Amino acid sequence: MKTLFLSLIALLLNADSAYEKGKELYIKNGCYGCHGTKLEGLHRYPYLANRAKGYMKYKLERFRSRLSDNQQQEMMIPFAVGLSDEDIENLAVYMNEYVEDTNKERYDDSYQVHGDGGS
Ligand code: HEC
Repeated sequence: MKTLFLSLIALLLNADSAYEKGKELYIKNGCYGCHGTKLEGLHRYPYLANRAKGYMKYKLERFRSRLSDNQQQEMMIPFAVGLSDEDIENLAVYMNEYVEDTNKERYDDSYQVHGDGGS
């Protein structure tokens, strides 16, 4: 009973935070497929954990406007075009404030991409 009560409190506190919304977006949009479930990056995919919020927003807004500096970055465009200003804000908060989640149900390591994508 006590556990249930505490989970409810946690849920109430977290449900609407930008961090939680950003986390949902990160999972829903498949960002983890390249940047990792722990935002740790992999090979040519940059890590995103605890990066400057302003810079993360700047980059996502650029990708959304279909702007990229090189062919490598073009890969990001399809994942950014559908994002709203609010989505970008929430994602930037999530990336900036990221702390490792120990909830194994949500963050299953088997989703992690291994190898270099075949190049
Ligand atoms: C198909 C693989 C792929 C997916 C999926 C993907 N990204 Fe990326 N992302 C990249 C690549 C490649 C770059 C550019 C790396 C470079 O600059 O060389 C990048 C760059 C970024 C950058 C800029 C980082 C920097 O250091 O300049 C941000 C922020 C970012 N991605 C966030 C996201 C978010 C948020 C999502 C989900 C909505 C996402 N990415 C989905 C591959 C991906």
